Amino acid sequence: MIYIIGLLIGLQFVPLSQQKVEKVAASQAFENIVTGSEAQITLLKNACYDCHSNDTKYPWYAQVAPVSLWINGHIKGARGKLNFSTWQQYDTETQKHKLRESAEEIRDGHMPPKSFKFMHSGAKMTDNQAEDLAVWLESI
Ligand code: HEC
Repeated sequence: MIYIIGLLIGLQFVPLSQQKVEKVAASQAFENIVTGSEAQITLLKNACYDCHSNDTKYPWYAQVAPVSLWINGHIKGARGKLNFSTWQQYDTETQKHKLRESAEEIRDGHMPPKSFKFMHSGAKMTDNQAEDLAVWLESI
């Protein structure tokens, strides 16, 4: 037991990389390029932007290892696949592909991940909201 506690305390000293996000112009961001209703943009932000943008809002427990290490690894992986903050940097073909993939992930209920919805009520959506979001993304 004492070893586990020691390990957990020791882990708190592992430096976090969460602050290091490159600054990019707001004009590159998805929400400033596309048109959508306020409700659609808000839902997308609540459901996806903590992982798929540079505007991550970290909950308090994201500061505590080992959760912090897991969350940061997760966010890095997610941004690598899809980053709405640097949307303009994708070519048109890639944008279309990412939007189709996003619609699919939303419809299948894979995105946002269950563990995230559990902790973030704003990311929960009804089937109708999910379908509306998916249809909107496909129409862009
Ligand atoms: C809690 C973090 C988190 C949230 C919130 C989240 N995602 Fe993800 N997403 C990930 C991670 C991590 C991956 C990479 C998964 C992998 O590599 O297997 C990913 C991958 C993806 C991919 C790429 C899938 C692929 O196979 O390449 C798409 C598209 C995607 N997410 C869309 C979304 C959309 C749309 C939302 C919001 C409705 C969302 N995600 C919300 C963490 C998240």
